[in-house]
Amino acid sequence: MGLSTAESDPDRGALIGLITVSDRASRGDYEDRGGPAIREYLDQVLTSPWTAEAVVIPDEQPDIESAIKDLAGSGCCLILTTGGTGPAARDVTPEATEAACTKILAGFGEAMRTASLRAVPTAILSRQTAGICGGALVINLPGQPKAIAECLDAVMAAVPYCVDLVGGPYITTDPNFVEAFRPRSAIRPNPDDTQ
Ligand code: MTE
Repeated sequence: MGLSTAESDPDRGALIGLITVSDRASRGDYEDRGGPAIREYLDQVLTSPWTAEAVVIPDEQPDIESAIKDLAGSGCCLILTTGGTGPAARDVTPEATEAACTKILAGFGEAMRTASLRAVPTAILSRQTAGICGGALVINLPGQPKAIAECLDAVMAAVPYCVDLVGGPYITTDPNFVEAFRPRSAIRPNPDDTQ
């Protein structure tokens, strides 16, 4: 992937990798709707600057694993995948995530499934997980565009502090949508606040 500029330009803010995992979207059989749904969510929720590095790839474990590692190696602090979390034979995103990550954060999957079960009984079919790859938090989301907000709403409050803990930039959110939680000792004063 051509991500060589990712690390070198601080004006781009936090780099966020978006990986759409879909055989059909990667072949161009239909338009990717997952990646744009994630962008729309982040546009609404994040108040600190950010830039997306987006890829659309087939449901192949080596491709997914390489995309996660490449995006983490290119300076992404957060990588969101969409698709390939279900029980079908071609669904291998959680396996690729586990292989690419050195730590698994199982609580993310548990929280997303619990919240999603309130919306749809088939939420139980998603094996979505999360983990740490280099300096990036990797989170799996299901492929349904409407699942993106349902799942991110369940975990987003914990994402900025997790990114702090793995050495990423200080991400802020709009409390009207998601109130990011940090321990008091980790909260930085808002530079826009004048006294
Ligand atoms: N979670 C939410 N919030 N909303 C949904 O519509 N769809 C479910 C589940 N999780 C869904 C959801 C369905 S039908 C499936 S098969 C699994 O996610 C896996 O989807 P994926 O293979 O596209 O990742």
